Amino acid sequence: MPHIVAPSVLSADFGNLQRDIELINDSDADWFHIDIMDGVFVPNISFGFPVLKAVQKHAKKPLDVHLMIVDPDRYIQAFKDAGAAILTVHIEACTHLHRSIQHIKSAGMKAGVALNPHTSIYLLEDIIADIDLVCLMSVNPGFGGQKFIENTYHKVAALKKMITDKNSKALIEIDGGVDLLNYQKLISTGADVLVAGNTVFGSVNPKETIKQLKQI
Ligand code: DX5
Ligand code: ZN
Repeated sequence: MPHIVAPSVLSADFGNLQRDIELINDSDADWFHIDIMDGVFVPNISFGFPVLKAVQKHAKKPLDVHLMIVDPDRYIQAFKDAGAAILTVHIEACTHLHRSIQHIKSAGMKAGVALNPHTSIYLLEDIIADIDLVCLMSVNPGFGGQKFIENTYHKVAALKKMITDKNSKALIEIDGGVDLLNYQKLISTGADVLVAGNTVFGSVNPKETIKQLKQI
């Protein structure tokens, strides 16, 4: 399967949100990556349902929603109603992860689990077969434009092996600091989905940058 590129709307120009969404619609990108931050789980607040619904109104590609919020179960149906196709919760924010995953799937979405840089991938061994996507944070979550953490490559390789061994269909998503210098190594190590915020929206020609991120 060719890899997926998901530009992160967090780095878009919110004063020109429709323009930036249409730019992604017209590009080679596959998904929209949407970061929801509550100011509690992470030291930043991004945006909530009104903005997400505005994105949904114009977006012509699946919405990959990454929840950096405590107790995400409270909002699973609300994110479905706001247009999420993939809903990712943080393992560090879920006391009953299995229940949260089942809840997301029964609401009709793909279920993802995100891991902070310090969190071992082996915590997923008993649930990997139930997950559609694992989001490996390659920066500490909360902000765009941070430096990629090199240890991520080890996590990708080990997670890929676990997915194969357990006969899971989970995709490996990399979130944070993905750029034109590291994306190829990430793909060859086993990544399936590349999130890119600053690399896309901070570039002179975002559509061309997306095209480059799609190349192998
Ligand atoms: C970080 C977010 C990321 C962020 C990535 O907490 O989860 O999705 O937007 O931005 P870049 O690609 O600029 O590191
Ligand atoms: Zn994210």
